[in-house]
Amino acid sequence: MKVVAVLGSPHRNGPSSTIAEEVLRGAKDAGHEVVIYHINDMNIKGCQACGYCKNNRADCILDDDLKTYWKDLHECGALVVSAPNYCAQVAGPMITYMNRHYCLMMRDGPRIRPGIKLVGVFSQGQQDQDMYRENYKWYLHDFEERRMVLTDMIIHTSQTPYDRESEIMKKAYQIGNAL
Ligand SMILES: Cc1cc2nc3c(=O)[nH]c(=O)nc-3n(C[C@H](O)[C@H](O)[C@H](O)COP(=O)(O)O)c2cc1C
Repeated sequence: MKVVAVLGSPHRNGPSSTIAEEVLRGAKDAGHEVVIYHINDMNIKGCQACGYCKNNRADCILDDDLKTYWKDLHECGALVVSAPNYCAQVAGPMITYMNRHYCLMMRDGPRIRPGIKLVGVFSQGQQDQDMYRENYKWYLHDFEERRMVLTDMIIHTSQTPYDRESEIMKKAYQIGNAL
């Protein structure tokens, strides 16, 4: 199975990317193919509301670095998204990316194979794990509306260790390995 990951932090070695990569290590060990997109390194526009997708039942035609993503998404069995929390919400570039999935929503329902597994990994400074939980759920709900099935969500708080032997990394590996 193909696993697509979209990592949203500017920190390649920060907690959200590191924990997401551990999910992917578990997935690879289970025999899955992994394709990673690093949003911070990509040139991505917001949805232009051009209507092309709705009028043509087509994936987004914007000519930017999401071009190859749509094919990967349609082929995958699981999507892993990760992001830091900026100003109480999932960091902006990941919201821009999420908005682009507008192209999958048709008047007669979502235009994507149902049942793609969804994993969300978020990192925040606040120690209270529940403080932004509803915001992360709001974010993931957009993918769930496209018939993806949320299998797990990991919320990292800034004082939680995320070294190889830590509990959160073990959980991440297991989540990926069970995809
Ligand atoms: C611009 C900015 C805004 C932030 N806003 C919040 C916030 O509102 N609440 C919070 O708990 N942490 C906030 N943080 C802290 C980050 O979420 C935290 O450092 C996180 O662990 C970063 O993860 P990363 O290194 O994987 O990107 C903010 C950080 C930045 C740079």
